[in-house]
Amino acid sequence: MTISRIATNFSRHEQAVLFEGDCLELLACLPDESMQLIVTSPPYNLGKSYERKSALDKYLEWQDVVVAECIRVLRPEGSICWQVGNFVDSGAIVPLDIALYPSFARRGLKLRNRIIWHFEHGLHCSRRLSGRHETILWFTKTDQYLFDLDPIRVPQKYPGKKYFKGPKAGQYSCNPLGKNPGDVWVIPNVKNNHVEKTVHPCQFPIELVERLVLSMSRSEDWLLDPFAGVGSSLIAGIKHGRRAVGAELLPEYCAIARERMLQCMSGFLKSRPMNQPVYDSEKAGRSLTTRPFPQHPAAQSLQDVIIESSSS
Ligand SMILES: C[S@@+](CC[C@H](N)C(=O)[O-])C[C@H]1O[C@@H](n2cnc3c(N)ncnc32)[C@H](O)[C@@H]1O
Repeated sequence: MTISRIATNFSRHEQAVLFEGDCLELLACLPDESMQLIVTSPPYNLGKSYERKSALDKYLEWQDVVVAECIRVLRPEGSICWQVGNFVDSGAIVPLDIALYPSFARRGLKLRNRIIWHFEHGLHCSRRLSGRHETILWFTKTDQYLFDLDPIRVPQKYPGKKYFKGPKAGQYSCNPLGKNPGDVWVIPNVKNNHVEKTVHPCQFPIELVERLVLSMSRSEDWLLDPFAGVGSSLIAGIKHGRRAVGAELLPEYCAIARERMLQCMSGFLKSRPMNQPVYDSEKAGRSLTTRPFPQHPAAQSLQDVIIESSSS
């Protein structure tokens, strides 16, 4: 399937749709059970440039309406992946996945995984530990859900390992296609030196969504992102031959999403490849990794332990 145009309103005959406006308006136009995969990261109600902070219960009420609509448009074998972090109020955190879980469970959806997305960069906290993970709640509508592990397998740690006893003794024990990536995903978040960085303060790395697209949908299936931002989910879908539809409230982000989607369609969008190892600045010999001050004694003893355990 070659996609070359982006429609502004939904029709089943389109292949890519970007609606500029409120997601509830777009959702109202989507037929029942038409979407195979819904991947999104809603506003976290933190008062970012694109949102107005409201009381937590009001925010959850609004999310509940959006979730109900998403469930209506989801196919019976489809999946919803809701990616969130923490709501923070006067220094106290509320993990939004915990707060939002009832909206899905109450409507009969089943949680298949709570994927931990770990990244290295973010705000430095002084009164609590700095947050370095967010979560993706993966729900399915029924038990007959589509899930294909093979396209997202990752290289085995010990591909040469063999069974040492039993009828298969001596044969290689691991799957040659690779191993299950597990539910802790180490994927760099999009900060200033990331190849995908735009002006959006919290865009998805495309590779994060690619894993979901490849394992939870088939070619030409519809993927929906009700909070599309600069279009990263839609791009991950288009990249792998899925139809993609999203809504974004702010014209500025819509324009960037559109431009990036067009670049993706013509094969010119730069993105970080899936499964590329995380950049190790020390291995790369960057001068910034050389300490210009003496090592703190606690850090020195930790380093000694690491060196000792890696050499034993
Ligand atoms: C966390 S960001 C999503 C970023 C996106 N995952 C990406 O990769 O660019 C949430 C987005 O939802 C948009 N938004 C907020 N309220 C909305 C609404 N009612 N309908 C549609 N979009 C909305 C915001 O402008 C923001 O860009």
